[in-house]
Amino acid sequence: MAVSGAVLVLFLIGHMVGNLKIFLGADDFNHYAHWLRTMGEPAVPRRTLLTILEVVISVAVVLHIWSAVSLGKRARAARPVKYQARKKSHAQGYAVHTMRYGGVIILLFVIWHLLDLTFLVVNPKGDGFTPYERVVADFDASRWYITVWYVLAVLLVGLHLRHGVWSAFNSLGWRTPRNDRTLRGLAFAVAGVVTLGFVSVPLSVTFGWVS
Ligand code: HEM
Repeated sequence: MAVSGAVLVLFLIGHMVGNLKIFLGADDFNHYAHWLRTMGEPAVPRRTLLTILEVVISVAVVLHIWSAVSLGKRARAARPVKYQARKKSHAQGYAVHTMRYGGVIILLFVIWHLLDLTFLVVNPKGDGFTPYERVVADFDASRWYITVWYVLAVLLVGLHLRHGVWSAFNSLGWRTPRNDRTLRGLAFAVAGVVTLGFVSVPLSVTFGWVS
């Protein structure tokens, strides 16, 4: 869970930083999108490194979901009879719900997002346009509901990250009573930076700061 999660966190940070290039203008953003496909050239053919990256991310997503399901099953098997005396605390119930249902919604979002900006099936500008034009058309003010969908999905990604990063610290045995607050703060900071970085792009297009 933690290893696949770490790969996904690194991807998210890289993707978020790459997206911020939109604030440098169309040329920089399109150049970055082009570089993603040509990195490693001429040592390796076009798209080789990107394809390796895509395989690594896909394997990480599958392993992450598989670990979540099997850990859930193991937890239930270890305690076949539910506790009677002590109900789950509000915080425990909240974490399980955000991780489980949030995770499913994030997966649905990623499928939509791939159909939108990678396979261009649901994007207003398809093939023949630049990545910059596609992002700007996607989050146009007239399509505010797409921006709302992206922002809500990214907020869920943020909640998932905050709990996931903190859980990973815990599982790795790094948490002690003394550093608990620091680790919680670190998880909050990572999640906060990733969330703000991602939402800044659709919001800036919708509000006309990027056009
Ligand atoms: C909210 C702001 C976001 C924007 C503006 C955005 C933009 C983009 C764009 C333009 C691409 C296509 C890149 C290219 O082919 O050149 C892309 C691909 C992708 N995005 Fe996002 N993204 C956002 C958030 C996210 C989030 C939150 C996730 C994951 C939870 C995500 C996962 C992916 C994946 C998996 C790909 C495919 C990468 C590949 O083809 O190798 N994105 N995104």
